[in-house]
Amino acid sequence: MRGKLITLEGIDGSGKSTVAKKLQKNHEIRAFEPIFTREPTRDTLTGNAVEKAIQSDTDQLAELFLFTADHAEHLAKLVKPALENGKTVISDRYSDSRYAYQGITLKNRIENPLEWVRSLHKGWTIVPDLTFLFDIEPEIAVERCGKRGEQTKFEKIEFLHGVRENFLRLASEEPERFIVVDASCSPENVEKTVVQKILEFVQRD
Ligand code: TMP
Repeated sequence: MRGKLITLEGIDGSGKSTVAKKLQKNHEIRAFEPIFTREPTRDTLTGNAVEKAIQSDTDQLAELFLFTADHAEHLAKLVKPALENGKTVISDRYSDSRYAYQGITLKNRIENPLEWVRSLHKGWTIVPDLTFLFDIEPEIAVERCGKRGEQTKFEKIEFLHGVRENFLRLASEEPERFIVVDASCSPENVEKTVVQKILEFVQRD
């Protein structure tokens, strides 16, 4: 049986990566031996290209194609084989990040960019079975990023408002796939909710 694909999404500073790390240490989650991964990928040709692009003044369209190339590589080398082997895959960011973020970076270049970016993925991507959206006010999220000393060009409040709106739109379009988590709660509560929902989901069938 094909494995399940679970993704974690949210704006920068939503606490999603912290929860991803906690999940890796959680005994109940580890019991079903999931594969933990992320986008952009790390230590790969495409992931390195994305990292350089994020840190510089790269053309937004070029940036979209780098993120998308990284997704294709991630799918081919890790996600698809793991799912075919019946493994559960948990990815910290995935295609919805592209729809939400590049849906904003391209807004002055492309008409209806969210739809357009989504259409570029049709026919070859694998749609997740379950997606957690870590929802939070950008003001709180940016303060968290500031405290960690991480400021990238994507962490501007106004920009993040647009990204958050896009994520919420995606979640409202597919309520059966998305679970929206209030990420302003304590990290312990957020982790507890996510663990419980994942366990319910993997034990369902
Ligand atoms: P990270 O902080 O999760 O490592 O992600 C790096 C940044 O890249 C983050 O600001 C979100 C952004 N991003 C996109 O703009 N498009 C994408 O497709 C992905 C995966 C991430």
